Amino acid sequence: MIGSIREGAKNDKTCTHYDLGITIMINSVGVIGAGTMGHGIAEACAIAGLEVCLVDVSDDFLATARQKINWSLESLLKKNIIKESVESITSRITTSTNLSDLSGVDYVIEAVKEDSEVKSRLLKDLSGVLKPGCILSTNTSTIPISELASESDRPELFIGLHFSNPPVMMPLVEIIMGSSTRESALNETKNLVKRLRKDFVVVMKDVEGFLINRINDRVITEALAMHEEGATIESLDSMARFRLNFPMGIFELLDFVGIDVVFNANSELKKRGFDTSSSKLLGKMVKSGKLGTKTGNGFYSYPGGSSYSRHMIIPGAEMYSVSPLRLVSTAINEAAWILENEVASLEDIEKSMVMAMNWPEGPLTMADRFGIRNVVEMLRQRQSATGLSRYEPNHLLLEMVEGEKLGLESGTGFKYWKVERTRFGSVIYRKQHTHALVTLDRPEKLNALDEDEWEGLRLALEHAMADSSVRCVIINGNGRAFCAGDDIEMMKGWRSKRDVDQWIKNYSTPLLDLLAKYQKPIISAVNGFAFGGGCELNMMFDIVVAAEDAIFSLPEGLIGALPPIGTTLGTALVSRKLTRYALTGEWIPARDAMEIGIVDVVVPGDQLLTVASEFAEKISKMAPLSIKEIKSAVNSVRSVFSSQVALGTDKLAGLASTRDFAEGQDAFVHKRKPTWTGN
Ligand code: NAI
Repeated sequence: MIGSIREGAKNDKTCTHYDLGITIMINSVGVIGAGTMGHGIAEACAIAGLEVCLVDVSDDFLATARQKINWSLESLLKKNIIKESVESITSRITTSTNLSDLSGVDYVIEAVKEDSEVKSRLLKDLSGVLKPGCILSTNTSTIPISELASESDRPELFIGLHFSNPPVMMPLVEIIMGSSTRESALNETKNLVKRLRKDFVVVMKDVEGFLINRINDRVITEALAMHEEGATIESLDSMARFRLNFPMGIFELLDFVGIDVVFNANSELKKRGFDTSSSKLLGKMVKSGKLGTKTGNGFYSYPGGSSYSRHMIIPGAEMYSVSPLRLVSTAINEAAWILENEVASLEDIEKSMVMAMNWPEGPLTMADRFGIRNVVEMLRQRQSATGLSRYEPNHLLLEMVEGEKLGLESGTGFKYWKVERTRFGSVIYRKQHTHALVTLDRPEKLNALDEDEWEGLRLALEHAMADSSVRCVIINGNGRAFCAGDDIEMMKGWRSKRDVDQWIKNYSTPLLDLLAKYQKPIISAVNGFAFGGGCELNMMFDIVVAAEDAIFSLPEGLIGALPPIGTTLGTALVSRKLTRYALTGEWIPARDAMEIGIVDVVVPGDQLLTVASEFAEKISKMAPLSIKEIKSAVNSVRSVFSSQVALGTDKLAGLASTRDFAEGQDAFVHKRKPTWTGN
């Protein structure tokens, strides 16, 4: 167990110690505390080939720890995760109830109970026991490193080494510098972590909760606040799982970690000055013994008792009732604070949440996606609603908004994004990373389709098609409406069937033909009115997301025309029920449109583009060739109705030369009732 001493070897890649001008290879590690974390840390060190001395207060605890290590190693061997025999690995672990057995080790990891008095007493007891140059680390989750360092006989060689549970499996550790920690102790610790085949993040300043717990506390506190305001556990957890793509719902995670553990960590952070709110709900649950999976009851119940059975969270409409941006806004704000205060680098902030918490991306990348302006807006709303300081937007975020560094939207945020912004007539084209956002931009005319817009939409879609890095297209409308249908000014100009035939040939057919064979998915984000052509185009798109107040309608019969797509492809592929709406011109509210099949998801208006982007993001994770073939198969079905759509447009052309058509347009423009003659 005693470390071997060598001179020089500064370039040696093994764990070495340079502090005293001599080099100590770290061959032996002492682990104090053989509980949940300690036995796992000892096991991880032994797997890495280190000699380990595991210390606890009683032989019984040590025997239990040995048993758990054996079980764990046997399972790792069975799964082929390790190759070495269990006996060979465990032969490197000795156990002891005597701290003096650590006198020869090269590195010590303290993992006793999270109680500053217990830790402080232990560190005092260790004084004079460890050899000079031995680094002393703590696995504390919440107690400041400098506070513990000051209780030890070596503050400059004292460092935080925060493993996640279970230590053998989790790929990342947090290394935390105390105010006196020397650079050499940091380097040694990095080397040790590499030897354990783990990655690390460095927390350069000893702040409450370090990095991961600080950010986690924000998300947990916000989830609890949203729940206390009335959002259901199921809606919040399904949103976290299926919209934010977290590996677990927040409440599922709380049950898994233990309500008491989370409650204690939150209380410790608050006690030490972190401006979090303590949750009354968690406190009540702890008092009543509802501690999560370990007691068989927490936010969910676990009929299997303490043996962990995962609660099945299923996606449903309710997950769109709660805002993912709100859930992560304070975590983003916290991450910005950490960056601004040079507590950790941007890379380490992102890496910590991805590797330790299995988030699909770090909080600052999320900020870019949501848009920095939207994050700031959400924080401001929360701040004015609650007056709480944790919602005060961080300076960094405010400066970014001022400097137009808005994230994905502008191409620059915490990261750089591939963006392109161009215009095709009255249509704006914005490439945003893996998708293109195509916006109908005639807000003063409710984005009514004139010739310029028909053509602009086609050109924008062709542009997106030609860019291989664009995986799908989102179409939306600027202003109060998605699209009010064909522009009446344009239609008024149709005097004969020939005029309409010309329009069909030059504008409508080229776009409809393109849509019929379009190889990339098209998602629409419908706000306000989607009338006439603006409603029908949606029948040729792939995913339709509608705001709660969106209104669809096929009112062409009210102006002497007809809906050529709605009456043909629409009645065949969307629903027979469309006939009623084509015959009456009645409004179709978003939820009815969903029931009929025009719309896929109805969401609060402020989440419209977010949800459309979530679909785009999901599509971007699918195999490109699969998407291409899925689209091709879907298009083959739609194309069955091409001749019917052509028949519909032909009938429209026929109507255009009638007196009633002219009467319909005129009555509409003059806001009067039409007088039909049937001619
Ligand atoms: P635990 O309660 O499971 O184990 C603590 C062990 O320390 C017990 O076996 C106890 O007998 C022993 N111990 C207490 N006083 C001692 C002393 N003076 N000398 C030797 N052994 C002593 O605690 P757990 O969960 O393993 O936590 C340990 C540390 O790791 C805490 O600081 C905790 O905050 C931190 N941590 C815990 C995580 C978790 O998920 N449990 C995750 C990350 C960090």
